[in-house]
Amino acid sequence: MAVVGIIPAAGSGERLGASGPKAFVMCGGRSLVDWSLEVLEAVCDRVVVAVPAGFDEGVGCRVLGGASRSESVRLALAAAPDADVVVVHDAARPLITRDLVESCVAALEGWDGVVAAAPVADTIKEADGAGRVVRTLDRSALWAIQTPQVFRADVLRRALDVDDAVLASATDDASLVEAAGGSVRVIEAPAENIKVTRPVDLALAEALLRARC
Ligand code: CTP
Ligand code: MG
Repeated sequence: MAVVGIIPAAGSGERLGASGPKAFVMCGGRSLVDWSLEVLEAVCDRVVVAVPAGFDEGVGCRVLGGASRSESVRLALAAAPDADVVVVHDAARPLITRDLVESCVAALEGWDGVVAAAPVADTIKEADGAGRVVRTLDRSALWAIQTPQVFRADVLRRALDVDDAVLASATDDASLVEAAGGSVRVIEAPAENIKVTRPVDLALAEALLRARC
């Protein structure tokens, strides 16, 4: 059974506002993507990284990413025709652990997909365009979805075989698998598995990574 890791790292990092693409910003002494690469390489048979233009030379298997995150995943998956199981993990989450990836892979038995997630801690309300609260959701069944996301490769390939507009509107891969009728389960991730989106997240990730050493 070939387990292939895919790291979407081709985003520009607009919200972080750094001088270059987010995945290649330094954090805790190495680039953001390198933290995830090290963990995925320890668990997977091989890893494909989707990178922005100009970053396709260098160590490891790199492919040029696409216009949307899911398109980048699709392009990376096309470079892994041998995969039976796919572990997708965003370069933007450098605090991933080997333990979490292994738990997700082990939990795939009997499912099409397994996603790392955090139980929602805040109260969640729906509001209209004017800011008027429409309803308060029952958070007891709500999960904030993260990566890693692990899939049967054939199911993920089919789910990603949709037009570019559908790909662009998907905020994760599991939603495409769900839309294609696939079964997906959540696994609770450690609280440290944060995503670097804005400068405050980068400072937090840096502190957490340095505290590990
Ligand atoms: N990503 C990608 N290809 C894209 C867009 C995003 O591979 N066309 C990757 C990013 O590099 C990141 C992950 O998908 O590792 C999650 O995306 P996000 O956190 O939104 O990163 P960016 O798109 O880079 O950031 P922003 O939306 O602020 O521009
Ligand atoms: Mg983005």
